[in-house]
Parts: sequence; C-alpha cells; structure tokens
Amino acid sequence: MISKQLKEARGFEEEHISRIRDIERPAFHLTGGCGWINDPNGFSYYKGEYHLFYQYHPYSNIWGPMHWGHAKSSDMLSWKRLPIAMAPDQEYDNFGCFSGSALELADGRHLLMYTGVQKSSDLSGESGAQTQCLAFGDGVNYEKYEGNPVIKADTLPKGSSTCDFRDPKIWQEDDGTFFAVAAGMDADGNGQIALYRSQDALAWEFCSILAKSSAKLGGMWECPDFFELDGKQALLVSPMAMLPDGRDFHVGHNTLALIGDYDKKAYRFTGENLQPIDCGIDFYAPQSLLTPDGRRVMIGWMQAWSNSKFVPPGVKYFGQMTVPRELQIRDGKLIQTPVREILNYRGERILHESVTVDAQERIFEDVEGRTVDMTVTVRDISQLKKLIINVAADDVYHTSVSFMPKKGILNLDRNFSGYLYDIVHSRDIPVQTKNGGLKLRFILDRYSLEVFVNDGEKAGTLALFTPLDADKITFRAEGTAQIDVEKYELKF
Ligand code: FRU
Repeated sequence: MISKQLKEARGFEEEHISRIRDIERPAFHLTGGCGWINDPNGFSYYKGEYHLFYQYHPYSNIWGPMHWGHAKSSDMLSWKRLPIAMAPDQEYDNFGCFSGSALELADGRHLLMYTGVQKSSDLSGESGAQTQCLAFGDGVNYEKYEGNPVIKADTLPKGSSTCDFRDPKIWQEDDGTFFAVAAGMDADGNGQIALYRSQDALAWEFCSILAKSSAKLGGMWECPDFFELDGKQALLVSPMAMLPDGRDFHVGHNTLALIGDYDKKAYRFTGENLQPIDCGIDFYAPQSLLTPDGRRVMIGWMQAWSNSKFVPPGVKYFGQMTVPRELQIRDGKLIQTPVREILNYRGERILHESVTVDAQERIFEDVEGRTVDMTVTVRDISQLKKLIINVAADDVYHTSVSFMPKKGILNLDRNFSGYLYDIVHSRDIPVQTKNGGLKLRFILDRYSLEVFVNDGEKAGTLALFTPLDADKITFRAEGTAQIDVEKYELKF
C-alpha cells in the first residue's frame, strides 16, 4: 500500500525534478531528485542490478523528516532514478526513516533494514526512540513489515541509549544466517557497535558489542559496516564529536576504518590498525556491498555535517554521493580506488611525459575540463618544495592540490571554489612518497573533486560549487618537479 505521505513525496519530486537541468548535476555522482540527501542506504545488488537508496528530504535543501530516495544502475556510475521507496508514515518511524541497508532474499524479495525514529512522547516533536525495522519489496515498491520494529534498544547492555541506536547494516553468511551491526551509545556516552543474528531476518538476537569508542574516538558512532576483506576484518564507522588526533583525525565528525581480526564463533572483533577513511572535507557515512565478481565496493555521502547548513544561494538540490570505490586491504591498510567501470567512460588518452614544472605556471591545451580522470605522477622531488595543481580554475576560481614532499603533506584547498561562507575549506593529508615520488589521481565531476594518492593509499574528497566555465587545470612549483600527466575526459 502506498501511504498518503509517500504519494505526496513522490508527487512533489515528480513536479520539481524537471526544474534541475542535467548540466546542473554531476555526470556520474548520484544526487537526489530534488531537495536534500545524506547517507547512502541499502547499497545492494538485486536481481542483476545495483540499487542505491539514500536519506532524503525532497521538500527542501535542508535536512528534514527522512524518506528513502532510490536509484539503480548496471555499473554504479550511470544511475536511473526510481520512485521514492519509503516515507515516515508509521507510528514507529514518524520522525524519520533513518539509515540502513538492504539485501536480496532467497525468495527474490528485496529486504530493507532501517531505523525507525519515533517522535518523542513529550510533544516537543523532537526525536525519540530509535528501533530497527524492515520493509520488503520488488525493487520499486516496498511494504513495511507488520511486525516492526524487529530490534529495540532493550536488547543492548544495560544503560545503553534508546534514542541513539541506529543504522543497521545487514548481511547473510553462506550457511544462511543473517547478521546485522547497529550503532549505539553505552551508559558512559561511548559509541558502541552491537552485533545481532537471526535465522529468518525477522526475529533477532543480540550477540555482542564488537567495538567501542572508549572516550577517545568520539561520542556516538554512526553508520557501521563490518566485512571480511583480503583475509582481515574491517569495521567502518562514522564517529561524531571527535577531538583531533595527530594529523589523521580532525575535530568533529570523522570516518574511520578499524582493521583487525574477527572470531566468528565468539563474536569477538580485535581491531589492530586504525585509519581515517577519507581525509578530505566532504565524506561521511560510507556503506559497502559485495559485487557478483567478489569486489567490496564502498560509497559515501559527499558532504560534512558541519558544513551542511551552508547551502549556497541558488542551489537547486543539496548533497551527492562519492564515486563508488573498490576496497582492498594491503599491509593492514584500507586501499580505495574508483570502481573499474569508470574506465568504460574514458575518452581519448592525453599524455605529457617528463614535464619540468617550476615557478612559471604551466597549462596544457588538451588538459582541462570538469569531468576528468587525470593521473599526475611526480617523479623527481629532489628539487621540489611545493607542487601546486589547480583545477576548476579561471581568473576568479580555483581549487588547489599542493604537495609538499619535505613536510609529507598534501594540502587540499577550496577557498576559491565559489563558497562564500567561513567554513572549513582546507585540509592537510599526511602522505608518503613512494619510489622517490607520488602518484595523484584526480576524479573531477563538475561539482566535486576526489583525489586518490599512490593508487588508493589515501583519499580526499571535496564538494565544489564552482561555475562550470572555470575548467582550467594548471601546474606550478616552488623549486622544480618532473611530472607525467595522463588525462582522460569522462564521457557520460
Ligand atoms: C549519519 C546519520 C545517521 C542517521 C541519518 C539521519 O549521517 O546521522 O546516523 O541514520 O544520518 O539522516
């Protein structure tokens, strides 16, 4: 049954979607039909196609009662929009249908597991109890389960918060058992990740607390993901309210990967290595899936919560997803690279080899554009103090990526990208040179830049609001550098 709220939301989207021209959106990064989006949800492979849902408030460019928007794709890059999947139309989710995940059931149904947030009982209209709920569908329409909610906070260790318990990530093991991790907060205000198990995906049993923030890694943890990869186990979380820690973590919301080992029988996870997932400004709440050919692919919300209230005037929608990224674990570290499907969209190869860059700004006539896949290999850094690469540039605008080998820093700076607000616009990413150089892959898609360092050892993401005619790419150095530039236009 399609509720009044869902019908209204679908109708509103249909009416407003045509006001946004294709060129006003990224070419291959998913955006909402209109209005606001945040976290990726329900990233799954269903009946031969990839499905991606997202936290969605179609009615305005700011966060509001959460719906689930929906799109599908054959390659995770060209998306087809589908009708809004869920609206906050039940008593247990009347404050919002918060984040969650999805999988294909053996009987062919698409299962969504999400957090139902209820308005608090004190008439304040604020958020109240959070519980885990289900919906079943056919890839387009979804029915909420009559037995909702299926997991309540009273299953958690004593003293755990009932209002901070959310973002279930579900998976099924080879023996058919379902598992889910959900984020919560313990009696001392620490983030905690709870593991649940079920035989039928309807009745759930608490197994263990897999990890905690332990006063150091932020307060509440959001949007957990938990999977095996390359013989190790990874736990991804998005902590709120963190103190900065060295050069790796900044103040506020972060994303982190804990890599370690998992004892499946004892439900015990031991995290050994800790690292930020993305060191740029705009990345949060990532979620992954397993492709039919065995790749673990992660996608994130390309936005920072702390900047999200600063919506530039004239913007017709707010929020986009990152490029889907293939994950690997190498030497205990998470490696991420844009999905290989992107190669199918590459145009002609432009190559400039062994170019010397110095104080004189260098522009190559055939290296420009705003939908670009470009790799810059810095070969000789012996005489280099700083290499500055500007993208989305003209006389007024630019976004710069600067490499300072002696400091071991890659700086991303979007002060001149078109934003007019005094918010965070610059980040330093610690990087290590490799074979005496550095490799930088730039993925530009009209309104964003994602940089991948040394074949995915580090990633940094920025959302941009730069007018599209600022499409120059320039190179300059303090000292000198030898570089190769390989550039492809991405054609969608
Ligand atoms: C993370 C988050 C989730 C929550 C959702 C609400 O960005 O706060 O924890 O489910 O967004 O929109």
